[in-house]
Amino acid sequence: MKPTFRLSAALLAALLLVLAGAAMAASPVFDVDRTFYPYYPSLIKWDKSTIPFNAPEVCGSCHPQQFKEWNGSVHSLAFKDPVYQGELNKGVKAVGHDIARQCEGCHSPIGVVTGAVKGPGLANLPATALNGVSCDVCHSVSGVTHWQTPSHEPENGSFILSPGVEDPNNGQTLIKRGPFKPSEECGGGFHECRESSLHLRADLCASCHQVYHYEAHFPLEATYLEWKHGPYAQQAILCQDCHMVDIATFKRSADTFRKPERQEYRHVFNGANYLLSYLAAGAAKKNGEEELAANLMKQYEMEVERLKAAAALELSPVYRGGRLVELKVRVKNIRAGHNLPTSLTNVRQMWLELTAKDETGTVIMSSGTINPDGSLPENSRLFNSDGMGNDFHFSVDPWVITAFSRHDTIPPRGYKDVYFGVAAPAAAKKIVVTAKLRFRQAEQHVAEELLKAVPKDIDLEQLYGLRAVPPLPVVDMAVQETTIATSL
Ligand code: HEC
Ligand code: HEC
Ligand code: HEC
Ligand code: HEC
Ligand code: HEC
Repeated sequence: MKPTFRLSAALLAALLLVLAGAAMAASPVFDVDRTFYPYYPSLIKWDKSTIPFNAPEVCGSCHPQQFKEWNGSVHSLAFKDPVYQGELNKGVKAVGHDIARQCEGCHSPIGVVTGAVKGPGLANLPATALNGVSCDVCHSVSGVTHWQTPSHEPENGSFILSPGVEDPNNGQTLIKRGPFKPSEECGGGFHECRESSLHLRADLCASCHQVYHYEAHFPLEATYLEWKHGPYAQQAILCQDCHMVDIATFKRSADTFRKPERQEYRHVFNGANYLLSYLAAGAAKKNGEEELAANLMKQYEMEVERLKAAAALELSPVYRGGRLVELKVRVKNIRAGHNLPTSLTNVRQMWLELTAKDETGTVIMSSGTINPDGSLPENSRLFNSDGMGNDFHFSVDPWVITAFSRHDTIPPRGYKDVYFGVAAPAAAKKIVVTAKLRFRQAEQHVAEELLKAVPKDIDLEQLYGLRAVPPLPVVDMAVQETTIATSL
């Protein structure tokens, strides 16, 4: 009796698996071809061969300039990032490693295809996995599958890695793809070169900068599509033209829609995550890596400068019956090629702080001043989004969020108007109003939660000198102070 029962249980389990698979594949909206995408829910593909991937230091021995620029970029930190490791650790506990591999597909693509990354943590990993988005990721990309994805858009790492070819007669040949028609000497005998128009398009960045929920295919981060549907894409100003150049060149690309000269491109991939660069600079300094620490501090300064260049404020009074009743603040996205803010909009915080004082210096109204515990007051005007799960409850976790209950960001070259009611005391003839557009990576308690969740082998005190999470630094992206008459 017993053996038969075991057999039928196994049969039933197998049948259920097949049915589950069939149910997935049969989704009329998001059809997934699991043979085509073997690392699902990461959509990475790999031309599997014995061709090795190489650590960035290897590429750096012949390409020192690119290495120096990349080393210390957010791409070089994409896997080691303690905030990422904390969230990954939570994700693996919540949904299991098979699903959390989706995260690793973008944060350590080589770690995923080679199978080196088996979960959160940094211990015993090869340099190719630890270095996140490294040289050999981007320069081994031979194509994209953007039209075959479940959403029929770039998503979740929908690119193909082909580091080279193997041939029974010629052995292994490394092939690196880049923007040029290769010369005879290209590769210095180490690799062959292929001209790749993909590297001159935003599609290269798109697969990783469109993050979808692993199952519901909800766009959690939509930087690529925000850009594609905006004025910069129409004028052929690409991600590379603002993020692979220095700050002055980025401003020129944004202001004039003029493409940078070839020699102006830099591998800095400079964005807005000044907190990560700052933490990593501290860790490098502690470790005696002076050059890296200096590089990271330079990244930090560029990130702050980029944020300060992104937006502008216009403050104006609104009178009714001759009396001042409202203050209008126009918030303009002047230089971000996508919405402002972009990417992790459900975690990032960009908000208006407004303070009005009468002639005696007494505050008569305020909004958006950070509370002593690091939170923002209820009435603050935030530009970002609130995530919700399929139970319609609030969440910050990317494996839970299947929709936004609020999504309020500013399109490229667009603006939003915000009105604040103000009742000046009868005696006041003038008031002084200060408006600030402020930015931080996360709400204080969200950052504390994430850093609490880092895997055990990342000792925050030892690595970063962090005993507790200090108040998160805030950048003032734009500030305007104006004196306004209380009546006409
Ligand atoms: C399609 C590629 C992709 C996938 C999949 C992906 N991420 Fe990311 N992740 C990114 C990009 C791009 C950013 C940078 C966005 C930004 O800085 O605003 C990012 C940023 C983050 C950050 C913020 C890091 C910081 O220092 O502030 C965390 C945390 C994070 N990801 C966790 C995850 C987790 C957990 C998963 C899996 C559930 C995941 N990511 C899946 C591409 C991806
Ligand atoms: C996120 C993707 C990405 C990463 C990571 C990356 N590159 Fe590039 N690389 C590009 C793109 C895009 C271009 C073309 C930019 C342009 O238009 O010049 C490029 C251009 C190049 C070129 C030819 C143009 C030049 O600058 O001389 C070389 C060589 C190169 N990369 C080497 C490297 C090395 C070495 C590393 C690692 C230290 C690296 N890349 C990391 C995307 C990347
Ligand atoms: C032995 C030296 C050597 C090593 C190691 C090396 N390269 Fe190159 N590579 C060259 C030379 C030489 C050129 C051609 C001149 C140039 O662009 O600097 C070149 C060109 C390139 C280009 C431009 C190709 C084009 O046509 O646009 C890319 C991209 C590139 N290498 C990537 C890499 C990557 C990624 C690695 C590490 C996996 C690497 N290289 C390692 C010597 C090397
Ligand atoms: C293999 C996936 C991948 C590719 C391809 C890729 N990125 Fe990224 N990128 C990431 C991840 C992951 C992060 C965030 C890492 C983190 O915050 O821990 C990131 C971060 C960034 C940042 C910094 C964001 C910040 O908050 O400061 C910029 C800027 C950026 N990428 C631009 C680009 C551009 C431009 C390209 C194309 C030339 C590109 N990326 C291609 C995965 C990728
Ligand atoms: C016209 C210039 C411009 C173009 C084009 C552009 N960006 Fe940006 N990007 C910015 C500016 C300015 C910021 C800082 C403000 C912000 O966070 O939006 C930024 C920020 C970012 C961030 C960091 C967001 C965060 O909160 O940490 C990422 C990631 C990013 N860009 C990726 C991309 C990608 C991918 C593309 C192409 C699809 C692109 N950008 C095109 C100007 C540009």
